[in-house]
Amino acid sequence: MDALNDIVERAFADFAASADPAALENAKAKYLGKAGALTALLKTLGTLPADERAATGARINAAKRELEDALALRRTALADAKLAAQLAADALDVSLPGRGRGIGGVHPLTLTLERIEMLFHSLGFDVADGPEIEDDFHNFTALNTPENHPARSMHDTFYVDGGMVLRTHTSPIQVRYMETHAPPIRIIAPGRVYRVDSDATHAPMFHQVEGLWIGEDVSFADLKSVFTEFLRLFFERDDVTLRFRPSFFPFTEPSAEIDMRFGDSGWLEIAGSGQVHPNVLRAVNIDPERWQGFAFGMGPDRLAMLRYGVDDLRLFYENDLRFLAQFAE
Ligand code: PHE
Repeated sequence: MDALNDIVERAFADFAASADPAALENAKAKYLGKAGALTALLKTLGTLPADERAATGARINAAKRELEDALALRRTALADAKLAAQLAADALDVSLPGRGRGIGGVHPLTLTLERIEMLFHSLGFDVADGPEIEDDFHNFTALNTPENHPARSMHDTFYVDGGMVLRTHTSPIQVRYMETHAPPIRIIAPGRVYRVDSDATHAPMFHQVEGLWIGEDVSFADLKSVFTEFLRLFFERDDVTLRFRPSFFPFTEPSAEIDMRFGDSGWLEIAGSGQVHPNVLRAVNIDPERWQGFAFGMGPDRLAMLRYGVDDLRLFYENDLRFLAQFAE
């Protein structure tokens, strides 16, 4: 095993001769790296006669530990030397006060969701929750979205193992809630949702807030009043108007997009909505002859952009502290 002794000696010499951390890491790679000398020696173990393998392997591993210890010592020595040099040159003033850590703040989207929850709570809505990895039944089937419906297409749905999906909307929470609670029901359900989509105005992960109010005579008029009241509270101004634009969702009938504007500014789409489809109620054993109501799914990311005057959705997801720090409360 002269080869082994030789490698260890050369490594010790190289470590000692490394004058800075970069040189030391290069020396390390030469012996302990993937293509290093010691690693190469380990790979030859298989070619040795069986009765020599165990002993040789043990020797090589012991040498490896020795080199790792020497490396750690040398690292510390280099760091100490650097500190000593800085102190000697007066480049480091150890009497300066510490920098402190700062206490962090809540992300603007989280602030927005909390605000939405608080406001809807004041309007009599409970807050519900559901899993982000959903089964086909809750994400699609129970929402009157049959097997061949385009919304299931591979193009916009992330499929995961076992036929599960990353939920494409918060609407499955409606189903889960109605499975476990009898009407009357009045909830909102905020959460993350996922679609295969990415450009200036679409992120593959975004947020929705689902709303659901089921009672004996809950109508579109109630949706309009609740939503208008919510937006006035949210933006703290009275000149918010809504427009309902006819649309289609499999789980509501009739369906409408909700647009909003301040005063006579341009319209901005902020939610999908509609009267819950009788098939959805049937899927959770609620009698559609007796119960009815509305649902909506809105985009809180958009509300946050408007409230804070942010013009690019992606800023919220880049985690640049210079951006985020402005919202800390
Ligand atoms: N789930 C719909 C979407 O993601 C929005 C919606 C929710 C529409 C509830 C109507 C009722 O686009």
